[in-house]
Amino acid sequence: MSQPARVSVLGSINADLVARVASLPQPGETVLSRSLSRYPGGKGANQAVAAARLSARVTFYGKTGADATGDRLLAGLRAEGIGTKRIERMDGVETGMALVLVSDAGENMIVVVAGANDHVNAKYVDAVVNDVVLADTLLLQFEVPSEAIRHLLDRLPPNRPRVIVDPAPARDMSDLPLARIDVMTPNRTELAALTGVDDIEAGGRRLLDRGARCVICTCGSDGSYLIERKGTTHFPAFPVHAVDTTAAGDAFAGALAVSLSSEDSIAVAIRTANAAAALSTTRPGAQPSLPTRLEVDQFLRAHPGYGVPSLAPFRS
Ligand code: RIB
Repeated sequence: MSQPARVSVLGSINADLVARVASLPQPGETVLSRSLSRYPGGKGANQAVAAARLSARVTFYGKTGADATGDRLLAGLRAEGIGTKRIERMDGVETGMALVLVSDAGENMIVVVAGANDHVNAKYVDAVVNDVVLADTLLLQFEVPSEAIRHLLDRLPPNRPRVIVDPAPARDMSDLPLARIDVMTPNRTELAALTGVDDIEAGGRRLLDRGARCVICTCGSDGSYLIERKGTTHFPAFPVHAVDTTAAGDAFAGALAVSLSSEDSIAVAIRTANAAAALSTTRPGAQPSLPTRLEVDQFLRAHPGYGVPSLAPFRS
């Protein structure tokens, strides 16, 4: 039997406070909510859970407060079999929190109160980097300070681990060594914000020009676009009824990491990641929505011929 994929995740861990609303409010508008729920979240922690549920051996790196919320979130990660020993607990700082609105159409708006996530810094990276590099694949997102991301990218050996960066939320990347990034996975909004270009192929090419080795733009019900120097390929989405798109990008990144670590081709990895993301949108919440290996395998078997690259001419 082959070894399980080994995945390191350095990133955020949040408690999500989720209000369901009929439609997302406009600036200045007040809307009523039908329900308020709490879920474990944070892009980093979500991606760690996504990879663990797909049978990877996952270690998570980040910070929480030394509070009851942090206790609960860490217990949740441990229950998934995720290594949490290197997570630092901080006195006098609160665990990260996200205020999430989810509409009847499944769309969301998220405000993150970073708390302890904002204290992930170069000193912490120095303390954990020797462990981080033991993985096949490293997953990073932008909910911890860019100082930490830059320092970690600078300290990595040239080719291992594979680095996947989910640039969410989008922010200035001028100080980041993009040449050490194997795959970037922005959604369409993030790609436009990062590059100033509202065209998927042109935006992706800008990131390639700045050094990224490949770009996958995730586009929800429009599937995903793989942008490489040799061309752009469209992977259609799977047909599902979405009730909550929160953490769909995290399901995608986690599944992509596991699939690529298992030596799948990029095409197989993207189809698998699209399936994991689609499944996650059919259930509410961030971590509770993330599918298992069995669910993804059954879903792929139930959809033969779906999600394979289209030969249609590329349209942005
Ligand atoms: O990607 C979804 C996540 O974004 C939520 O779980 C929330 O915590 C924010 O980090």
